[in-house]
Amino acid sequence: MTEKNAAVETRVVDARFIAGAVDPASLPPPTLLEVAFAGRSNVGKSSLLNAMMQRRSLARTSNTPGCTRQLNFFEVRCADGLALRFVDLPGYGWARRSKAERGQWQDMIESYLRQRVGLRAAVALVDVRRGVEEEERQLIQFLAEARSVPGPRPLDVILVATKTDKVGAAARKPALEAVKRSAGQTGQSPLAFSSVTGEGREDLWRRIRRAVL
Ligand code: GTP
Ligand code: MG
Repeated sequence: MTEKNAAVETRVVDARFIAGAVDPASLPPPTLLEVAFAGRSNVGKSSLLNAMMQRRSLARTSNTPGCTRQLNFFEVRCADGLALRFVDLPGYGWARRSKAERGQWQDMIESYLRQRVGLRAAVALVDVRRGVEEEERQLIQFLAEARSVPGPRPLDVILVATKTDKVGAAARKPALEAVKRSAGQTGQSPLAFSSVTGEGREDLWRRIRRAVL
């Protein structure tokens, strides 16, 4: 890919919020391919989405964990005409709990990930300073298995290490290696991302395009 093409393919010419779904009935009709973003609260999902969409605060960000409480759907169009949806998932509740403990809410997210027509990829975010902990392991495991039943094609799971600007130059490589190790069998190298410096934005766009095209 030439530099010029890369710029066209990652330049966002339109980005808008289209729906916030609190239950299955409020999901927008699946008229475009979708990519979901998941991770624990405060990991930087909304900030990453804003960076990807080149908007300052389209996806709301907050210092208060648990801020995103609905499935937020955004439509994005790139300069070369590619249009798709980004879906900001709420940042909690991945630990596998008993049926009684899991709210209707968690059932909704899980059925979205399992059954949504047009969902092509799920981006799993982990904080580069924390790596993959039990909750994320369960999330990644869930994503890997989400479509193992016959039906829609498998999800492409993309692992992203967020907030790389928070680790110094010397600590960076070991931190990314630790994230990879902690990802265990799922074994992919994380893509390094910072919403502050913009690191990783083009790489993530490239990965997403590969998943949807
Ligand atoms: P929930 O909606 O609660 O699930 O959180 P979230 O995952 O959407 O996180 P959000 O984007 O709201 O960011 C949480 C906090 O981390 C905010 O204070 C952000 O400014 C900060 N933050 C997010 N990304 C980065 C980053 O790449 N670098 C730094 N230094 N801070 C970041
Ligand atoms: Mg958020």
